[in-house]
Amino acid sequence: MNKILVTGGAGYIGSHTCVELLNAGYEVVVVDNLYNSNKKAIDRVEEITGKKITFYENDIRDRAKMDEIFDKEDIYAVIHFAGLKAVGESVAKPLEYYENNISGTISLCDCMRSHGVKNIIFSSSATVYGDPAFIPITEECPKGICTNPYGWSKWMLEQILTDFNTADPEWNVVLLRYFNPIGAHKSGLIGEDPKGIPNNLLPYIAQVAIGKLDCLGVFGNDYDTHDGTGVRDYIHVVDLADGHVKALKKIDEKCGVKVYNLGTGNGYSVMDVLHAFEKACGHEIKYEIKPRRAGDISTCYADSKKAYEELGWEAKYGIDEMCADSWNWQSKNPNGYNE
Ligand code: NAD
Ligand code: UFG
Repeated sequence: MNKILVTGGAGYIGSHTCVELLNAGYEVVVVDNLYNSNKKAIDRVEEITGKKITFYENDIRDRAKMDEIFDKEDIYAVIHFAGLKAVGESVAKPLEYYENNISGTISLCDCMRSHGVKNIIFSSSATVYGDPAFIPITEECPKGICTNPYGWSKWMLEQILTDFNTADPEWNVVLLRYFNPIGAHKSGLIGEDPKGIPNNLLPYIAQVAIGKLDCLGVFGNDYDTHDGTGVRDYIHVVDLADGHVKALKKIDEKCGVKVYNLGTGNGYSVMDVLHAFEKACGHEIKYEIKPRRAGDISTCYADSKKAYEELGWEAKYGIDEMCADSWNWQSKNPNGYNE
């Protein structure tokens, strides 16, 4: 019950989760094809924890290699992060997104089943709520209409994994719906390292703050929010990582299918985040108001009571610490893992 396979473990959330797993005494095996990450993240996790990771540079769709890995390692549960996640890119490349995210997960689960491993924690997203029917969003909020193939891939994978349990109740499936993960490990050794120009707010702000980008475009200031800019539930990536350790305890109880929101329950606007980041980096950040971004919603934040009551999990860090830790990572690693 101790060895956990982390797919996508070299990525942003995966690497932080590896730290928390190792600190909690688990053995960690990572499979990552390094499509959107760097092997240095694994080395740095080992540096932070003083513990070893068994790392396989491999695609989860490579069934023969995955069979070898499952033959060799005595896996108790899989935490499945591997996938493509750029919303805009998914609109342009639906085939690639469905192929990697859906075919990849089906191939992984088939491999798990043939090795008798039926415990999985899946990275889902608040995006499955579409434009949410109510706020704060509880897990009972109906799944909505997604605006892009990335979102639909999460939506469908939740259903697919649930159906596995319906057919075979030995499957334990924890669907974690992340809100907006930001921040970095306190050490500044690991953090978010997007390739090219960032799509997401925090890495964009961080790169303006360090001088790599000129000016933040604020996508719309005419939403129905306290200052007109979009409101989200930003959550520290270390809190999010801890949620996975707590979810493993739920799997130990043979929980069947469980769904949890991982958010703080607080909504911050784009301008709130910008000002918190200015405080963290000690100088003003240039911005300009731009039109709304297609597919964006006005407001999205969680009711995270269920995760508190059933997992004993709650977010510890607030927006100031999230921004301080993002800045610590960005300023120590201006080019991410590429020194
Ligand atoms: P990331 O891109 O940093 O990590 C994903 C990792 O998976 C990368 O290291 C990549 O190289 C690897 N990968 C991709 N396809 C693979 C494949 N076929 N085989 C092996 N490895 C593969 O992204 P992240 O932000 O750490 O996100 C992790 C998971 O959480 C993803 O499934 C993402 O969709 C989900 N999620 C992320 C967010 C967010 O805002 N970051 C929000 C909700 C859900
Ligand atoms: N924003 C800007 N300028 C930018 C980038 C973002 O103003 O350069 C605004 C957006 O309009 C939005 C907010 O900042 O109001 C947050 O945008 P992000 O792109 O950082 O995050 P999203 O909420 O759009 O989406 C993220 C992930 C999705 C995930 C979703 C819910 O990218 O994959 O959170 O978890 F599904």
